[in-house]
Amino acid sequence: MVSFVGKWKGKDFLDTNDFSQEEVKKVLDAANVLMKMFRSRKKHPFLPGKTLFMMFYNRSLRTRNSFEAGIYQLGGHAHFLSPQDVYTPALPEDMVAYQTEAISDVARVLSRYGDAIAIRIYGDAAKWIIGRGHKVVREFAKHATIPVLNMEDDMYHPFQALADAQAMRNAVPKLQGKKLVVSYAYSGGLKPLAVPQSEILIGTQLGMNVVLAHPPGFDLEDVVLDAAKKNADRYGGEFSVVNDMKASFEGADIVYPKAWSPKNYFPPHSPALDKPSATAYQDKFKDWICTQELMDLTNKGKYMHCGPADRGQEVTDEVIDNEKYSLYFEQAEDRLHVQKAVMALVMGDRSTRKR
Ligand code: CP
Repeated sequence: MVSFVGKWKGKDFLDTNDFSQEEVKKVLDAANVLMKMFRSRKKHPFLPGKTLFMMFYNRSLRTRNSFEAGIYQLGGHAHFLSPQDVYTPALPEDMVAYQTEAISDVARVLSRYGDAIAIRIYGDAAKWIIGRGHKVVREFAKHATIPVLNMEDDMYHPFQALADAQAMRNAVPKLQGKKLVVSYAYSGGLKPLAVPQSEILIGTQLGMNVVLAHPPGFDLEDVVLDAAKKNADRYGGEFSVVNDMKASFEGADIVYPKAWSPKNYFPPHSPALDKPSATAYQDKFKDWICTQELMDLTNKGKYMHCGPADRGQEVTDEVIDNEKYSLYFEQAEDRLHVQKAVMALVMGDRSTRKR
């Protein structure tokens, strides 16, 4: 048995900023151990008989399959729940008789059956009210007596951030002080703020020089910008915001161009979602695309994207498929290892055997 199993038994994992730099590094170290076991096909059933409930309000390729494969590889079982197939879990203010069930009840019932509850909720499922999905996840965490894992809400995507930290750490030695550019990139669709918000948090938490680049009107949530500034002060990095994609790429060690939508067309920043205006505004910035020309401005920089990437809008094929500097598939693989690490930490039983 490795020493990290069950070390954080019972803890939730909702946002990387709920943890210190040292704790994030512990997860990454554990993920590295699990990655080596996985690649050498050494069995590692550290969670025998454990059940993970996975509640997906949104579609997924990477998150669902990496969690499901991960818990199986740890000797446990994933139980997939679609909110349409149960009485839709509802916040107290959203209860509809015969159709919904209070989240407080759903959380306590599932806590009687298994060992963790993982939730994904953003976009339509959260009525595009920024922060509402996160409120749902926190409501589950408040009432569950087993760990709650955030598989992406409308504020944070913590497991993506952990995987990205691992991919960066493996690709770029000594991340402290390295330049990470988290940039807006164009997409025609509506996209949540979760990924860029979690990326600026994890980058500053690792002591990097984080530059957030976006056109006017694409500001992230103030609470997250403030947290990124505090991280930079605490961990010896830097955090700045610019409105020029090309200038931001100059000398970058890592670039992370990714779409999100302008928050001022979404509640609570506007009375209701104004989708036509949001997409019309986004369409003004089709030139925010990651090309080889931009990559040439970097310091032999690495390219990153959480996936699914909108090829031809956010990035050219030439960039994302470049095996020398694109970390796209490393990031996807690291989802598996970091999630297994967190599950082993929070769902595992501490061994009473003397080592
Ligand atoms: N990056 C990510 O969360 O991918 P999926 O939407 O495919 O799960």
